[in-house]
Amino acid sequence: MLTGKRIIITGAGSGIGRATSLLAAGYGAQVLCVDLADGVYDTAAQITGSGGEAEAMQADVADEAQVAAYVDRCIQEFGGVDGIYANAGVGGGGKPMLELTVEDWQRTLAVNTVGVFLAVKHTVPHLTRRGNGSIVCTASVAGLRANAGGVDYSASKAAVVSIAQTVAYQLYGSGVRINAICPGLIETGMTRPAFERARARGTVDRIGQLNPTARYGEPAEIGEMACFLLSDRASYVNGQALPVDGGLSASHPWMFPRQ
Ligand SMILES: NC(=O)c1ccc[n+]([C@@H]2O[C@H](COP(=O)([O-])OP(=O)(O)OC[C@H]3O[C@@H](n4cnc5c(N)ncnc54)[C@H](O)[C@@H]3O)[C@@H](O)[C@H]2O)c1
Repeated sequence: MLTGKRIIITGAGSGIGRATSLLAAGYGAQVLCVDLADGVYDTAAQITGSGGEAEAMQADVADEAQVAAYVDRCIQEFGGVDGIYANAGVGGGGKPMLELTVEDWQRTLAVNTVGVFLAVKHTVPHLTRRGNGSIVCTASVAGLRANAGGVDYSASKAAVVSIAQTVAYQLYGSGVRINAICPGLIETGMTRPAFERARARGTVDRIGQLNPTARYGEPAEIGEMACFLLSDRASYVNGQALPVDGGLSASHPWMFPRQ
């Protein structure tokens, strides 16, 4: 599905980014794995160890010079760039609004929103020159509706949805597509503390019960959607915010039926 594609994946050191990197390489892509954390080297090593093609690079997605550097690295290593999954993000800590500081707000927005904006800004010239390409971003169900994160996190993810919608039109006629994935609750580095607390209490089987699949999601279930959107098979999917949440965002508020 991704044979011949040179793909950058941010947040590739953990969770959804790592799972997507492994899947994309398995589908034939050359993958530049980018993350602030050194777990990114392990992701690339897992790929090359199983015969795939990957490089790893540590970079801060909120820093414009480092974004320019990871795009250059992809071009140097693989001879070009065909797509990017701008996935790196932070949870923001989930503080109540009255405890949030401006510094908290700016850090969450810097990674989750500026990081996506910069990924778009620095890849688009290469993609439009070729007249083909796909940009995928990770938003969240928190960017669609309330009750899935703090106000800083939720606003940052609503901004990612807006980036996908508005940039799709700024890329009018270019052959380049952009979409956002809105994951529901997935067990990753970001959500691990909540899962560990629930395991300690013996309540982990209650997580995800509010959606009709009655379970939480796995990182690879987001990765499959990301790989599809990065591929030419998604050639007519553009400007969308696509929930991958077990159906959570399909409902009006409802009462969980008691047995
Ligand atoms: N896990 C969920 O339930 C869930 C739900 C909806 C959306 N998301 C989103 O999915 C994306 C991936 O998160 P995850 O759940 O896999 O969590 P994760 O913590 O496992 O992975 C996030 C990765 O992003 C990296 N990162 C953070 N700041 C960075 C920066 N400034 N520069 C480069 N890398 C940075 C981290 O080092 C980490 O490896 C995030 O955008 C997150 O907001 C997650």
